[in-house]
Amino acid sequence: MNTLIYKILLITIFIQHSFQAKPPNFGIDDVRPFHIRVLRLKCLDTPYKLISLKACSVKLIRNEPTRIFLEFDMPTTLDQMFVKFNVNYKINHSYRPLLIDISTELCATLNQKPGVNPAADYVLDTIRAHVPQAVHACPYGGRYYNFSDFSLDEKYFPSTIPAGDYRIDLRVTDQRNVTMIHTQCYMAVRSKGIASLSMLDW
Ligand SMILES: *[C@@H]1O[C@H](CO)[C@@H](O)[C@H](O)[C@H]1NC(C)=O
Ligand SMILES: *[C@@H]1O[C@H](CO)[C@@H](O)[C@H](O)[C@H]1NC(C)=O
Ligand SMILES: *[C@@H]1O[C@H](CO)[C@@H](O)[C@H](O)[C@H]1NC(C)=O
Repeated sequence: MNTLIYKILLITIFIQHSFQAKPPNFGIDDVRPFHIRVLRLKCLDTPYKLISLKACSVKLIRNEPTRIFLEFDMPTTLDQMFVKFNVNYKINHSYRPLLIDISTELCATLNQKPGVNPAADYVLDTIRAHVPQAVHACPYGGRYYNFSDFSLDEKYFPSTIPAGDYRIDLRVTDQRNVTMIHTQCYMAVRSKGIASLSMLDW
């Protein structure tokens, strides 16, 4: 049991360190020593009251990055969106929550000028690089969002991430805690070279 807590703590620290700041090689090709593969995207607690979900899936393509499909109609508009984000890491065949548990009001972040919060800037820049139409000032909604047919590009990620299997949970709600969307994304991070980044085999 102590070994498990120790692993969770160590991986948490590694990941927190990795994502602290925008890497100096942000957006530059062929520098990451790992591959990220999205394996599955699930939307939980459907149907939603605030959006009408049209697509929530991935398409796995051999030797190519996974294509992600997320599409929804959002007739209502929101001035405040509360996001809860947590990272789970597979240890001994089950996903364990790491000590990364972010809860924040998204509109304050989206409406903020760049430079105020460098970590938020990094996250928003990364999202913008993949789905530009997702990042805009609030109010959010009142339109159709089509984030379909994109894939994660490793060049926007930190220079090192612990290898292993991840599950990223994301839940967005309105101010009354009504779920707008609740997703789980399963990802595998594998080292490219001989030098193993793996923490699975200790
Ligand atoms: C891994 O899981 C097995 C079976 O569930 C258990 O017997 C073992 O103690 C676990 N090991 C660790 C390090 O948690
Ligand atoms: C959303 O975008 C995808 C990929 O570009 C496209 O195939 C799909 O038809 C679009 N959906 C709508 C409703 O326009
Ligand atoms: C919001 O809803 C979720 C899911 O139903 C629940 O787990 C959580 O405790 C609620 N939070 C608050 C602050 O009521």
